[in-house]
Amino acid sequence: MRRIVWCVVGTRPEAIKLAPLVSRLRRERDRLETRLIATGQHRELLDRALADFDLRADYDLELMKPGQTLADVLAAGVAGLDRLIAEDRPDLIIGQGDTTSVLAAATAAFYRRAPFAHVEAGLRTGDRYAPFPEEMNRVLIGRLATLHFAPTHQAVDNLLLEGIARSSIVLTGNTVVDAIWSLDSRSNRLPIKPPTAAYVLVTAHRREHQGEHLDQICSALVELTRRRVDLSVILPVHPNPAVRGALIDRLRDRERILLIDPVGYADFAALMRGSRLIVTDSGGVQEEAPAIGKRVIVIRERTERREGFETGLVKLVGCDRDALVDAVDEMWDRPEETSGRIGPGRFANPYGDGWASERITRAVLNFLGIEPEPAPAGFHETWDERRGDPNGISNIGFAYVDSGGMNGYESAV
Ligand code: UD1
Ligand code: UDP
Repeated sequence: MRRIVWCVVGTRPEAIKLAPLVSRLRRERDRLETRLIATGQHRELLDRALADFDLRADYDLELMKPGQTLADVLAAGVAGLDRLIAEDRPDLIIGQGDTTSVLAAATAAFYRRAPFAHVEAGLRTGDRYAPFPEEMNRVLIGRLATLHFAPTHQAVDNLLLEGIARSSIVLTGNTVVDAIWSLDSRSNRLPIKPPTAAYVLVTAHRREHQGEHLDQICSALVELTRRRVDLSVILPVHPNPAVRGALIDRLRDRERILLIDPVGYADFAALMRGSRLIVTDSGGVQEEAPAIGKRVIVIRERTERREGFETGLVKLVGCDRDALVDAVDEMWDRPEETSGRIGPGRFANPYGDGWASERITRAVLNFLGIEPEPAPAGFHETWDERRGDPNGISNIGFAYVDSGGMNGYESAV
């Protein structure tokens, strides 16, 4: 009998980061029925990201409504997924990251006593309001989850500190590295012509940056293009109306600042590769930049992804205008440091080695009591960004006991 595994996605980054896992799980079609369930928290962004990986949702709750609050998304997500779980009775539900869709999926799974596996578990800033609401979403998902797929040692440590059982944690690396490296063979052609040969690629969308922080960031970009005629900015604008309105208001018709609509994943990867420098508040981009050897300035007050600092490619500067201008200014004249340091076959990337989906699939099979096939050539059971660390957590001997677990549907309301 094939076991039913759900992968739930709501927004662009979840689609990108779960796509390699969905594809990998679907190679187990003799033993697993892998269903892709979309909450539709995002619409165009989600559809585009799924299409980039030739994926289509098997079911879509179509949650996105104009002007809705976080509570609206959570309530509708829990109710919609609850009904679907009751009908389909998945043996395992997988969600990725820290969005409201993932919190809804973990909550709905818990209420139906369906096991929930959390991909990208254990990231923490320690500040409940930054990123908002994602930090607390991720903490809560961690409490609800049965299995924790932690991307790095730091994430494992964070989970252990919160009392999560070691036997329920698997150190996997981040699936975003699987995703970005899967694009390597595709074209590097830029989707638009940059105004100058060298450009800064910018993204900004976080809720806690709306208002004052976005003002400071915009003002810094204007100042940088004013100071340097050889510098231009390419900025794919997130469709969140609060962000879009502010960016267009402040940056429209500025010389050498190109505001564009969000682009597909391969096009965005090409823009990252072609840039001299990336400036972002995005979680995923912070991980992708070192994976392709690009320098990135993080415009946040704090980040839950600190492993990148050690590579020397990632710098956290906050959202202050002058600090951002100084940081870009300083790095701009050192273009030789922009590439080639990290990547497949070169140095280790702090966020993964491209095998995260394989590790997660093997752990999922294990959890469902299915013997995995022999490992593919080149596969390492353990991902260890602290290479050679004898205290590194091991994935071997993974075991988890769940008392409510998979027979729980009968007793659920
Ligand atoms: C959400 C996630 C955030 C993630 C980001 C990725 C939460 C609380 N936030 O933030 O963690 O980093 O996605 O991009 O889960 N919109 C569209 N089309 C789209 C997507 C969004 O029009 O395809 C507009 C809608 O008006 C929507 C608004 O953007 O209501 C905000 O979307 P929402 O998902 O609530 O928040 P994001 O800021 O996108
Ligand atoms: N991305 C994309 N097109 C764009 C901008 C970003 O495909 O125009 C990708 C990017 O490569 C990364 C992901 O979207 O994988 C990040 O999404 P976002 O910044 O919306 O969310 P976060 O990672 O901050 O949660």
